[in-house]
Amino acid sequence: MTNEKTVSEAIQYRRSVRIFDQKKPLDTSLVKKCIEQASLAPNSSNMQLWEFYHITSKDMIAKIAPFCFNQNAAKNSTAISGVCCSKRFMETTCQSKFSFYGFGFWKKQPESRTK
Ligand SMILES: Cc1cc2nc3c(=O)[nH]c(=O)nc-3n(C[C@H](O)[C@H](O)[C@H](O)COP(=O)(O)O)c2cc1C
Repeated sequence: MTNEKTVSEAIQYRRSVRIFDQKKPLDTSLVKKCIEQASLAPNSSNMQLWEFYHITSKDMIAKIAPFCFNQNAAKNSTAISGVCCSKRFMETTCQSKFSFYGFGFWKKQPESRTK
């Protein structure tokens, strides 16, 4: 039997959780699966200028908490996941897209993509 929900079920079911059971370990394989699925999201020009982080180090969580306004949910978590836009890849990715497609990039959609 599977625990998977339909998209509609997941939308109805989800809620914000701010209190965590410190004794209950987080299943990192589930976090990994979520991150893998998040990486399939559509994004501008398919540049994928993102970096996903899953932080479990207590020291690192303590350093990140102030950026979350020191909210208890951040301070008391055993793991924090985050996504950052990576400026590092921006220039090289834009350059390689442009040199490959030129100005015709937006015009060269395959016919199978038209509706
Ligand atoms: C962009 C964004 C930022 C949020 N920031 C915070 C936050 O800093 N602290 C917090 O406790 N909840 C935060 N939330 C959660 C919302 O407060 C929460 O979704 C809302 O209260 C509705 O509750 P629910 O998610 O349980 O339905 C954020 C939600 C979004 C979409």
